[in-house]
Amino acid sequence: MITLALSKGRIFDETMPLLAAAGITVLEDPEKSRKLILPTNQDDVRVVLVRATDVPTYVQYGGADLGVTGLDTLLEHSADWGASSGAALYQPLDLRIARCRMSVAVPDGFDYAGAVRQGSRLRVATKYVAIAREFFANKGVHVDLIKLYGSMELAPLTGLADAIVDLVSTGNTLKANRLVEVERIMDISSRLVVNQAALKLKQARIRTIIDAFAGAIRPE
Ligand code: PRP
Repeated sequence: MITLALSKGRIFDETMPLLAAAGITVLEDPEKSRKLILPTNQDDVRVVLVRATDVPTYVQYGGADLGVTGLDTLLEHSADWGASSGAALYQPLDLRIARCRMSVAVPDGFDYAGAVRQGSRLRVATKYVAIAREFFANKGVHVDLIKLYGSMELAPLTGLADAIVDLVSTGNTLKANRLVEVERIMDISSRLVVNQAALKLKQARIRTIIDAFAGAIRPE
């Protein structure tokens, strides 16, 4: 049996065409079913639905053989787990799906460039503390990071923080909250991750899936 870990929503939806290229069709709609294990048209392949942040954990510990996860989630997971994550997780493909960017945003009118120039200490709210820490450390900017689990946009509007580090796709969420993007930290897309031990034990089947995914990736 091959187990693929996916999160509901954009990653699930955008992984479906890649699975189709491997001849795999998921037989239930996760938005309609409450099942967490979804069968496919292939008797030896199943999909498990987990929280986006749990995908690397499932694959690292072998609860799933493969998974699809955002680079943002993967980098945060690797920062938390260090070498043990690197040894267990093989990352063969950038799937180029669920693309967006990780950015710094501030309230419209806040002089971010001036604050950076003056060496002010910034309070930054984010779910992505490892990415934010490394980014500001490389810039030589002193920051106090405030970890949040969602609705980051609210932090500067309530005085909790001067700035946020968050994912930006259309930019609509920032605009709706009168925030502006002041720096782009990195481009984000989803990656295929594979459990190293599973790759050895189920080499042929997993390689077929990796190859089919590779052939179905959209060109730039
Ligand atoms: C992300 C992100 C922003 C929003 C950006 O949240 O945290 O809030 O999308 O998208 P936009 O630029 O197209 O408006 P998501 O909906 O993934 O949920 P989350 O807050 O649970 O991460």
